Amino acid sequence: MAGLPNLDHYWLPFTANRQFKSMPRLFKAAKGNYYTTIDDRILLDGTAGLWCVAAGHGREEIASAVAHQLRTLDYAPAFQNSHPLAFEAAERLAQFMPHGLDRIFFTGSGSESADTALKIALAYHRVTGNPLRNKLIGRERGYHGVNFGGLSVGGIAGNSKSFGNGLAGVDHIRHPLDISRNAFTRGVPKDGGVELANEFEQRITTLHDPATIAALIVEPMQGSAGVVLPPAGYLKRLREICDKYGILLIFDEVITGFGRLGTRFGSDYFGVVPDILTCAKGLTNGAVPMGAVAVKREIHDAFMSNAPANAIELPHGYTYTAHPIACAAAIAMNNIFAADKLVERAAGLGGHFEQAAHSLKGVPFVRDVRNIGLVAGIELEPTPGKPGARAFATYLKCYEMGVLVRYTGDVIAISPPLTIEKNEIDRIFSCIAEALTSIAAEGDKGLDFTRYLKDEQQWVVPPA
Ligand SMILES: Cc1ncc(COP(=O)(O)O)c(C=O)c1O
Repeated sequence: MAGLPNLDHYWLPFTANRQFKSMPRLFKAAKGNYYTTIDDRILLDGTAGLWCVAAGHGREEIASAVAHQLRTLDYAPAFQNSHPLAFEAAERLAQFMPHGLDRIFFTGSGSESADTALKIALAYHRVTGNPLRNKLIGRERGYHGVNFGGLSVGGIAGNSKSFGNGLAGVDHIRHPLDISRNAFTRGVPKDGGVELANEFEQRITTLHDPATIAALIVEPMQGSAGVVLPPAGYLKRLREICDKYGILLIFDEVITGFGRLGTRFGSDYFGVVPDILTCAKGLTNGAVPMGAVAVKREIHDAFMSNAPANAIELPHGYTYTAHPIACAAAIAMNNIFAADKLVERAAGLGGHFEQAAHSLKGVPFVRDVRNIGLVAGIELEPTPGKPGARAFATYLKCYEMGVLVRYTGDVIAISPPLTIEKNEIDRIFSCIAEALTSIAAEGDKGLDFTRYLKDEQQWVVPPA
């Protein structure tokens, strides 16, 4: 058994650090759909890491491509120089994208992709002679990463309230979650989509001059804020309104990309093609940090034809844009998608997954189950005065029982690798049912976190 490291120096992201360090949950290995923890516990990965390990852990194809690349060309300057794999990775990704989105800008993460997309939208209007189109519209409960652009158009107050005002010239439209009307709907809610989308038009015409709006950014399915699905017709109507007023539509597909909904992208699932699409995560199976922004050819070409000869068309990019190691991983992952038919696999499992998720109806505290593709959100009744406490207890209890789930607020979010088996899907949801039943039976004690993972505290001291 490996030992416990010194926990003092590492400041964990989006984590209750003090709680974590009193009960560290450390993984030392992963293969297929399972993690091994530092104390040799085996955990079924119900979350594909952070929605990113689409092809399962420890893929040999990615490991050997990365190792080979590391020994061949570890780095090439990203500005004014490049390397062949960058072009190959872009070509492969362009072919994987919805039709027309075939110009690719690489980034290092989903957050960088969101900010890159917003900057391209603003700059596009400038190069095409519309500098007054400079407002950005996001959505309540939207998550577009943690950089200032994404944070500003994002709609999760808890993420932004610590950081001041964010970007100026930003507004938000309503989120589509309506539990009173749609609780326990299987898949997307049937009604209300067009009416809800029409509020976008109403908002931009009554509060703004639509000719000042540069872009609307939405996730096809809002993942991080608790699995919020768009009602039927909603995204199509947003597309129509954007077209009517010359507003660019950006889909943030950092979660919905790469097979998660049983289609390559959310755009394919909903039959709506944005002008700009952002992605990350499944692009490299989470093995190497990388994101990308796919842009319609006309948008890209506007930059190429309007900038003076030999001038930099877009003054934007990162040291690690199209990093050779990340490109090698992305190409290997692209091969895996084809060889393993991962998207088709996810589509084939959707019905079983939906059935298993909705078996939680009637389990203590479950007030809604939402599902699409291989994603489920299980919304719990909140505990008065302790938001998120029940979901956190459920996460700890499931961890004890050998299943990794994710929680966000009072929602348990499930998004397994696309390599998940049917019996593993059943295990995830029966584990959640058992955890909630046990928490309900224990009353207040069920929310006493110090009672969980007791044996996790008995660490072996590393050899000197
Ligand atoms: C829709 C969406 N956009 C952006 C991000 C940010 O990605 P990253 O954490 O790679 O910066 C996420 C992360 O979960 C996301 O879900």
